[in-house]
Amino acid sequence: MRIGILGSGNVAKSLSRGFVARGDEVRLGTRTGSKAQLAAWIAEQHLAIAQGTLEGVTGWAEAIVLAMRGMANPETVRAAGEPAFRGKVVIDATNPLVWRADGFPSLGLPEPESAGARLQKDLPGAKVVKAFNTIGHAHMVRPQFANPPTMFICGDDPTAKTWVTELLRDFGWSSIVDVGGIERSRLLESLCVLWITCGMRLENWNIAMRLEQRI
Ligand SMILES: NC(=O)c1ccc[n+]([C@@H]2O[C@H](COP(=O)([O-])OP(=O)(O)OC[C@H]3O[C@@H](n4cnc5c(N)ncnc54)[C@H](OP(=O)(O)O)[C@@H]3O)[C@@H](O)[C@H]2O)c1
Repeated sequence: MRIGILGSGNVAKSLSRGFVARGDEVRLGTRTGSKAQLAAWIAEQHLAIAQGTLEGVTGWAEAIVLAMRGMANPETVRAAGEPAFRGKVVIDATNPLVWRADGFPSLGLPEPESAGARLQKDLPGAKVVKAFNTIGHAHMVRPQFANPPTMFICGDDPTAKTWVTELLRDFGWSSIVDVGGIERSRLLESLCVLWITCGMRLENWNIAMRLEQRI
């Protein structure tokens, strides 16, 4: 499939490798349309990935991953143009984080708002599925833990969630929990705050959450 990833940070890079390994065609969209740092990384990794503008990559893609700074999602959508997202699955991996004076994160949107629900509102013709936002980028593809961690997802469109679930299975996830509609993004974004807080407290980023079910 043609996968457009909007972003140039660690999440965009980790997920691109996963999609390329799955056999998908990947383009990375950024605000400038071309970043030297990104070109160097692509060359170093020997990946057949092209760069483009937010608008160009979104228009070209069959499915899109949002991997930008979460508080900037409305700007990203404006730059890419809402029509380019219509009819497509949009995976929202972002978190609307702000940083407190004590150095710990919190959510930058007032209760009950969330980046995921806002995105769905801004993209009424797209099928937004929140996923990947509760795990560190290094473990998004083929997570290696003693017990399989859980990927929590939510979204309004059942077929889009089925597609994302299949993608997650291809990426090596065996525990996937669908928590409901896109308004539940607030819960998943709060989980990211918990995940970062644990990482900071434990000084360990090789951590993941798992939902255990009694047999
Ligand atoms: N890092 C993780 O392990 C992790 C895990 C789960 C979820 N997430 C979420 O995934 C998203 C991407 O995280 P990341 O760590 O890969 O990258 P990041 O450093 O959080 O964000 C970098 C990306 O944000 C874009 N951006 C948009 N507006 C910006 C602004 N005003 N200032 C700076 N950058 C801006 C940049 O765009 P350009 O490319 O155009 O410069 C760049 O692609 C975030 O929402 C994060 O919360 C991260």
